[in-house]
Amino acid sequence: MALRFWKPGTAGPGSSLDRATESEGNIVSASPAGISQLSVQSQRERLPIAKHRQKLLYSVEKYGVIIVVGQTGCGKTTQLPQYLLEAGWAADGNVIACTQPRRVAATSVATRVANEVGSLLGDEVGYTIRFEDVSSKERTRILYLTDGMLFRETLIDPLLSRYSAIMIDEVHERSVYTDLLLGLLKKIRRKRPSLRLIVSSATLDANSLLNFFQSPDNPDEATIVSLEGRMYPVEVAYLNEPTSDYVRKAAEVAWNINLQQPSGDILVFLTGREEIERCLEELSEMLATLPKHAPRLLLLALHAGLSTNEQLRVFETPEKGSRRVIVSTNIAEASVTIDGIKYVVDCGFVKIRTYNPTTTLSSLATVPTSIASSTQRAGRAGRTSSGVCYRLYTMSAFESLPPATPPEITRVDMTTPILQLKSLGVDDLMKFEWVTAPPAETVLRALEGLIASGMIGEDGRLTPIGEQVSECPVEVGVARMLFRSKEFKCGQEILTIAAMTTVQDVFVIPDGAQGAIAELERRKFTAEEGDHLTLLNAYNAFTKYGGTKSWCSGHALSFRTMSRAVSIRAQLKKYMQRFNLPLESCQGDAKRLRECLVSGYWRNGARWMADGTYKSVRGNKILHVHPTSVLFTRKPRSGWVIFHEMEETKKTQIRILTEIEPDWLLDHGHVYESKGKQESMGPQFG
Ligand code: CDP
Ligand code: MG
Repeated sequence: MALRFWKPGTAGPGSSLDRATESEGNIVSASPAGISQLSVQSQRERLPIAKHRQKLLYSVEKYGVIIVVGQTGCGKTTQLPQYLLEAGWAADGNVIACTQPRRVAATSVATRVANEVGSLLGDEVGYTIRFEDVSSKERTRILYLTDGMLFRETLIDPLLSRYSAIMIDEVHERSVYTDLLLGLLKKIRRKRPSLRLIVSSATLDANSLLNFFQSPDNPDEATIVSLEGRMYPVEVAYLNEPTSDYVRKAAEVAWNINLQQPSGDILVFLTGREEIERCLEELSEMLATLPKHAPRLLLLALHAGLSTNEQLRVFETPEKGSRRVIVSTNIAEASVTIDGIKYVVDCGFVKIRTYNPTTTLSSLATVPTSIASSTQRAGRAGRTSSGVCYRLYTMSAFESLPPATPPEITRVDMTTPILQLKSLGVDDLMKFEWVTAPPAETVLRALEGLIASGMIGEDGRLTPIGEQVSECPVEVGVARMLFRSKEFKCGQEILTIAAMTTVQDVFVIPDGAQGAIAELERRKFTAEEGDHLTLLNAYNAFTKYGGTKSWCSGHALSFRTMSRAVSIRAQLKKYMQRFNLPLESCQGDAKRLRECLVSGYWRNGARWMADGTYKSVRGNKILHVHPTSVLFTRKPRSGWVIFHEMEETKKTQIRILTEIEPDWLLDHGHVYESKGKQESMGPQFG
């Protein structure tokens, strides 16, 4: 448990961070509410970006595309849109947009900037994320939104005419929609040269983007603005031996830092909510043994499953004599900056989406980070003074990391984005200006699937139903299920299930004795057909019994999650009404409902094996049921299920299962095969 496990890595490859040349002002950490305007102004002026204000505004006047590169925390996300606002870019009803790949970043940054501007959130400064619009059509001048939402807006307004300037932020993340927007915006700028595009990132190969945007006939098309990178030295330490449990190790290391190291807050990188909770639990169990002389610990989580208020707690300044331990996902790597961090603990892994075009199975996978990513994580410790980064892996593991994580577009299912591109009139995907093109096989599978399900015609164009599906703010599979509910006469229930599978963490099961009671409560919703119907039961009970906070806490349900599901359902219902899809009830006929589910999830079929695991219909993968499933300990009567999602850690787990009849899969396979003339599209049994 002691830090003597560490090998000092002062000259290691991870310490290649620039040394600070001048001292950075004493930037006070923001309290989420009630900062006086004066202190806001002086805080703003002290940010490193402030010195570049004139240069930036001049470049925006002169050039079409400005590629801004600058250290995380220097003020790009919060300040640039404000500079544009102050310089008049939002006059005459124009709007300044700033996209974020992560929902959490969009909401937390908008909250911060609203505070700085002195606006109510949703008034002059607002945000839009999927199913949540906190902005005003008339009054919002700075809009933070996810890249997916801005992309969706091009379906309605192809020239994005209400924006005078668009900042595509966190480009180094290379999310699918960021990439698609870069391609589209290049095209839009040709038709609407007055639009300004700002592309910004912490770490970026700026030259390749400059090449992407540069135009042979206009030397003023694009430019790079580098903000000075100030960074204090960060000492890097590695493990001598690899660890088999980095979550526990992270807790131990954070604990030891608190006992042995001078003051400064601790930021721990793990891959997801479950790991974060386990790490915080380990730490809170140790609290009882905290020596009197040691600093008190303020344990905080940061991940996408938290409410905006919960997320903002990490920005609060801790009391004197205590230190914060913030256990976070990748969000804190570049999207969200927390001041005061002096110690970083990096587990060396990240959760990413992956896709196998051969089996057409998508999953979440926990994979080693990249050199770029671990350097960025280490840098979080050296923002306001020198720091230390503890890597929970060996130096040789570091040396074998890939230089960067491949762009998302190369490793996700492109079915939904391609349908949307088609709807935008991009008929020839080969001609689209990709920053990085998706693999040919991925595009091919997506097109086959879309043709087979009747969304794209044989001529390669969208069909009327494809047009409608492209407008739905859900994945193609879910949209298909909503459309097929007409046939199966179960629109009511499918709508609820679609909403409930969009939200996460419906049930709240604490550990210990209380957890056992909560577990019993949860079982009251259990449907023997599986998790989709269990979610449906929970939703129906919630609305039937008044949907209050106290009712939820008595029934192991998260009030916030349930309220979100109600709101999402209401929004999806509008789409169903617009497309004349009836909202009939299946009247308790679970068979019809399950058949309808298969129409959306037919790719995700699996067969029960005698040892309690499952085999995927596509690709014959061994799958383990997630412990939260109602089918965790029970064999499905038919021996077959469909599942909502798949996650790969040490083993592959599937979540949200429903038992089905194998014939139904075959039916869909046949439908797809006969229409799509694609043998490989059908389920392969065996
Ligand atoms: O985008 P970039 O990484 O360049 O920096 P930023 O997100 O604009 O952050 C600038 C400063 O605002 C940092 O010092 C953050 O700590 C602070 N900030 C904050 O205190 N609370 C937020 N919700 C967001 C930013
Ligand atoms: Mg930023």
